[in-house]
Amino acid sequence: MDVLLVLLRLLHIVSAFAWVGLSVAVTFYVAPAALKAGESGLRFLKTLLTRTNFGSIFAIVSGLTTLAGILLYLFGNSMAHFSQTGNIVLGIGAVAGLLATIHGGAVVGRSTRALGTALVQQVPETGPIASDVQRTLTDLAATLLGHARLSMVLMVIALVCMGSARYL
Ligand code: HEM
Repeated sequence: MDVLLVLLRLLHIVSAFAWVGLSVAVTFYVAPAALKAGESGLRFLKTLLTRTNFGSIFAIVSGLTTLAGILLYLFGNSMAHFSQTGNIVLGIGAVAGLLATIHGGAVVGRSTRALGTALVQQVPETGPIASDVQRTLTDLAATLLGHARLSMVLMVIALVCMGSARYL
């Protein structure tokens, strides 16, 4: 049982690390740069969303983090090896993590798919993109970035709470 818990905890921490790392890179660097790059930024986003597994990797790492976290909660007996304050802080982190998963799936995931569809329909393989189309697509991407930032804040709350709970 202990080996299973150690593996579950490892899976939880590694997938949480990947989820937060990907989100930081996209929210603070990739998406803002694509938005600033105008037409070529939209072409880049089209390639990213339609020719890589960018959309599904977030679902995979957030799903693994949350599933492993819930199983750790149910079977990890963290109540026994965390202080009362540590368990309260762990609980706050778990709520923030669950909210990040729900918001990520229901809002960020849906906005990502909507942007991907719009980019496929409105960005031609070659030739210029009309300026009104550019504006609409840039607004869609900016809205997605706004949602991603909220998920990011929830994930950082989860990371800080969970990373500190054992020392409280
Ligand atoms: C963005 C989301 C999350 C991040 C970044 C995250 C991160 C972490 C980290 C770094 C630890 C290790 C702490 C340590 O050993 O000192 C941890 C432990 C833990 N996490 Fe999460 N977590 C997230 C979401 C969740 C969720 C949604 C749940 C449950 C609903 C959860 C339940 C737990 C539990 C129970 C532990 C303690 C395991 C033990 O007994 O040692 N986590 N988490």
